[in-house]
Amino acid sequence: MSESQSATIFVLNGPNLNLLGTREPEIYGSATLDDIAGMLEDRARELGLEVDVRQSNHEGHLVDWLHEAQAVGAKAVLLNAGAFTHTSIALHDAIKAIRTPVIEVHLSNPHAREAFRHTSYVGMAAKATIAGFGAQSYVLALDGASRL
Ligand code: DQA
Repeated sequence: MSESQSATIFVLNGPNLNLLGTREPEIYGSATLDDIAGMLEDRARELGLEVDVRQSNHEGHLVDWLHEAQAVGAKAVLLNAGAFTHTSIALHDAIKAIRTPVIEVHLSNPHAREAFRHTSYVGMAAKATIAGFGAQSYVLALDGASRL
């Protein structure tokens, strides 16, 4: 680890993910975002890392937080951009604009769903993608990020 890099991993969540637990549980499961944050904190402790878990329904907040991840020297970003995954060139550009590795995360497998979810502007710029493991997608992505 370089001196300017911290052992913090940003976990950024986009629109509607504040409703996890009650939002279409047949697709997204019953874990809330707080439950997922708890799982990540437990795993991060085992890995000697810290997680900073955030959620916003606003695209610009996610752009600002990607910039902040680089500015504070975060080790990596786990990004579940929700529906912005499929629409946001601003997030694509922000990921390309920073050197911090970004791992795309999804609870569901967007490729097994509607055609409009098959394009990922986030995935085109991200280092890696983990999708389809429900809440465990985040933990698997954290394990991957820890090895970078
Ligand atoms: C999601 C998949 C997206 O297509 C959807 O818009 C979401 C959640 C997922 O985690 O499976 O909001 O990112």
